[in-house]
Amino acid sequence: MQLSVVILAAGKGTRMRSDKPKVLHEIANTPILEHIVRAAHALDPFETVVTYGHGGEQVKQRLSHIDGLKWAEQKEQLGTGHAVQQALPQLAKSDICLVVVGDIPLIQTETLAKLVTASNGDKLAVLSVVLDNPTGYGRIVKNDKGEVTAIVEEKDTNAEQKLITEINTGVMAIPGKHLEDWLAQLDNNNAQDEYYLTDLIEIAHKAGFKITAAQASCEAEVSGINNKLQLATLEREFQLKQAEALMLEGATLADPSRIDIRGSLSIGRDVEIDVNCVFIGDVTLGDGVKISSNCVIENSSIGSNTVIKANSVLENSSTGESCDIGPFARLRPGTQLANRAKIGNFVETKKAIIGEGSKVNHLSYIGDAEIGQAVNIGAGTITCNYDGVNKFKTTIGDGAFIGTNSSLVAPIEIGENATIGAGSTVSKSAPGAQLTISRAKQKSIEGWQRPVKKK
Ligand code: UD1
Ligand code: CA
Repeated sequence: MQLSVVILAAGKGTRMRSDKPKVLHEIANTPILEHIVRAAHALDPFETVVTYGHGGEQVKQRLSHIDGLKWAEQKEQLGTGHAVQQALPQLAKSDICLVVVGDIPLIQTETLAKLVTASNGDKLAVLSVVLDNPTGYGRIVKNDKGEVTAIVEEKDTNAEQKLITEINTGVMAIPGKHLEDWLAQLDNNNAQDEYYLTDLIEIAHKAGFKITAAQASCEAEVSGINNKLQLATLEREFQLKQAEALMLEGATLADPSRIDIRGSLSIGRDVEIDVNCVFIGDVTLGDGVKISSNCVIENSSIGSNTVIKANSVLENSSTGESCDIGPFARLRPGTQLANRAKIGNFVETKKAIIGEGSKVNHLSYIGDAEIGQAVNIGAGTITCNYDGVNKFKTTIGDGAFIGTNSSLVAPIEIGENATIGAGSTVSKSAPGAQLTISRAKQKSIEGWQRPVKKK
């Protein structure tokens, strides 16, 4: 059965009190609208049309990485029914048109699928949910036989209808063959002078068509975002769901309410994650990886049994097995650690390839560097990679020992098993297996007196 999807995203979102269009506010670093598009795309629809209005160009731009979206402008926001009318010229005559409001980011593909199945191309299907507090939502009105006969918006309800707790979630599956005809019958004779999509129910019912209601799985799934408080509430809901899934995959989380996954996190067996860690983009953690508190890990792959200690920040980096990182380490893009490498506290690395078993344990900057195996980089070592204009590379051979507080002025090569004396500024390449030292000779001045204050 051919499925078309229409997502309504033209509203201003006044209550967000923001210059950003409502649908671009983010849950887990992803725009609200993108969450909905992804949930719908998983149904493999024939086409998806997004109605846009406020901040339209910005919205299109932000979602430009998603293939195959069609856009329909709604210049004036005259209601949800009017919005679907604007999409009509772009819509193929599909068997089912699934309409989704653009402000329910936690909507699940399975729920959309359930609704599509309920419609089956010949029934109008409405996704509803029963709420303790239905205030603000459109109410599902049923007759004595339990048939859905209408949806009444909050502002149009009478006292009796106000008590109805089954509400419209804003998701509807409409038989494609009736869509155009039913939309043409909408009017704006209501409390908000809007063309309500929800009036299709009454139109269809009066024309003798059956309306079915499928139920959403939980309240969060269909909660709309209208303000920043709701945005934060749904962010926590979303994160908790991800944490639960991660624990069921076998991860040990110190506290499932204190982890944030903003992208995709894949894990091996026996992974342990302490509190307040943030994972951004695509992150992979191998078997037995342990991450202490307050780490931020972005687009990185961490090898088995590696330990990342507290307050470390990793970005576009990879590590081998059994590495030891932090506390307070910063791995910037292009850092690649081989097995058993160690990066200690207050060490910053960037575009650095660090060989097996090599150690940079304290207070160093290693940038644009290639370091062999079993190298020891002493505390305070700096690779001077930048002359103010260009960047240059430092190469250090296997087994080298760089004394503390050395400056290695790139481009430079340090040979295998070379030793650099502590405190050296080395600006010419150093041969392997020798001691290279460049610092003033130490002398002591006999009879020297400390200056004294004049009386
Ligand atoms: C709508 C439903 C209500 C339902 C609720 C669920 C209607 C008339 N009401 O109410 O029954 O309980 O959602 O959350 O459908 N939009 C446009 N163009 C417009 C107006 C709205 O694109 O002219 C978009 C908005 O960007 C938003 C969505 O449609 O994403 C819903 O609009 P909103 O104003 O939030 O509708 P509600 O009052 O929440
Ligand atoms: Ca809404």
